[in-house]
Amino acid sequence: MIKQKVESALNEQMKKEFYSSYLYLAMAAHFESLNFKGFAHWMRMQSQEEYVHAMKIFQHLTERGGKVVLQQIDTPPSKWDSPKEVFQDAYQHEQKVTQSISDLVELSKAEKDHPTEIFLHWFVKEQVEEEASAYEIVQKLQLVGNEGGALFMLDGELGKRAPSKE
Ligand code: FEO
Repeated sequence: MIKQKVESALNEQMKKEFYSSYLYLAMAAHFESLNFKGFAHWMRMQSQEEYVHAMKIFQHLTERGGKVVLQQIDTPPSKWDSPKEVFQDAYQHEQKVTQSISDLVELSKAEKDHPTEIFLHWFVKEQVEEEASAYEIVQKLQLVGNEGGALFMLDGELGKRAPSKE
């Protein structure tokens, strides 16, 4: 049976993953409104991945005999000044999530909850990828600046993102 402290922290993390899904969907909607179809596609894919992350926690809580408690999800922003600003926000958001996962790992160690600690390893690795992919796009956007042709090319590149296999 899962300990109360770990159960609460996992529910909190699940909420953050659902918020991430919502945030990336808001970013997708923003890009759709500007007709950046490729950026919008990338954000939709990211939103779906975050939903899957939340559901992994849902499943883990259920399997461990814990109670899933869904919480209110904050309203995400809806306006950004440039594609670069959107991806900078995404990158900063992922850094916060990484910290949150790291705190959860520490908690599961302190509570000697080895199944949760092992379960979280997947998230630790995933965060490395999530931060790297957001940062790579920020760097590309820094190079591109406001140059229309290059932005259009990058939009096309991001539009090729395939769904995750996990
Ligand atoms: Fe599920 Fe992007 O953290």
